Amino acid sequence: MVIPGATPRQDPLAPRALLARTLIILSLLVLAGLVATYFLVFRYSVAAGLYWPFDWLSWGLDDARVFKDGFAVWSSSSVLMIGLYALLSMQKRSNAIAALHGSAHWATPAEVRASGLLPGKSKPAAGVYVGGWREKRRQPVRYLRHDGPEHVLAFAPTRSGKGVGLVLPTLLSWRGSALVYDIKGENWALTAGWRQSKANNRVMKFDPTSEDGVAFNPLAEIRVGMPQEVSDTQNVATMLVDPDGKGLDDHWSKTSYALLTGAILHALYAIRATESRTATLADVGALLSDPERTLQDTLEAMLDFPHRDGEPAPLGGAGSPLPAEQR
Ligand SMILES: Nc1ncnc2c1ncn2[C@@H]1O[C@H](COP(=O)(O)OP(=O)(O)OP(=O)(O)O)[C@@H](O)[C@H]1O
Ligand SMILES: [Mg+2]
Repeated sequence: MVIPGATPRQDPLAPRALLARTLIILSLLVLAGLVATYFLVFRYSVAAGLYWPFDWLSWGLDDARVFKDGFAVWSSSSVLMIGLYALLSMQKRSNAIAALHGSAHWATPAEVRASGLLPGKSKPAAGVYVGGWREKRRQPVRYLRHDGPEHVLAFAPTRSGKGVGLVLPTLLSWRGSALVYDIKGENWALTAGWRQSKANNRVMKFDPTSEDGVAFNPLAEIRVGMPQEVSDTQNVATMLVDPDGKGLDDHWSKTSYALLTGAILHALYAIRATESRTATLADVGALLSDPERTLQDTLEAMLDFPHRDGEPAPLGGAGSPLPAEQR
């Protein structure tokens, strides 16, 4: 089976590694032979000189006692050396997979300096605050700041100080533009004043459900009177009735979308003609839920309204009352 993206597992005993290991073990056996031979040279006062690693064996064939001594030294030093080699290679292997369960650790002073987050002679203190660091207990805290095009993610438990330690200092020192997603409103409350008065930013709070704050009228984007007016209105209506973009798959969704398209276009023309301003979604809502008249009257008023050149526009048929069988 082929698993996309999976890399084949490295066979720990690949042929080359196996050959290298066999050669090393054979060399260790030869070395142990040399130890045994020289042990016999000293034990039996043989004349000093150069001997072959397995001379102990040829001497031992002539004398059982010599063989016994030689074999004892050869076998024990072989076991010792091969055991030591196995231990060392196991240690190496465990180092290689030491990061298997992650390599996270507190940064060492050298790693902090190498991170490039500390200000230096050629690097002024600027950018996003990512932490504070005190090399020794009594030294003042030095701030770590990231000033590059890379993304920054702070991941820490609730109430652990992400806001007070990283976000607020950044917003109170960053003079460039900032788009802040601030559900609790705490960042607005604590930094908007400084950003406006000291950093010369134009600050805007967009909170559609509150009374203060800036507003955005999506209907102002519709190119009324241009060939694109219907498609622009349909785009706005789609965003309202199908925000997930899953499509309108039943009769009621489709007709409500058509009705909304017609109602928006009508409101744009009617409010422009009667109040000389651009209609808002609130006007569309008021139009469709006017307590002074029935929906039937509203639809008829839409059909009769002189949208263009004193004549009612067809509005794509969107505002037409439904046939009796569909009501
Ligand atoms: N200077 C300070 N002295 C004492 N307490 C403080 C100080 N600054 C903040 N706190 C407290 O520390 C806590 C954590 O602050 P902060 O709101 O920054 O956490 P957070 O990680 O952003 O939390 P959340 O995930 O809820 O947004 C808060 O309860 C706050 O009141
Ligand atoms: Mg917070």
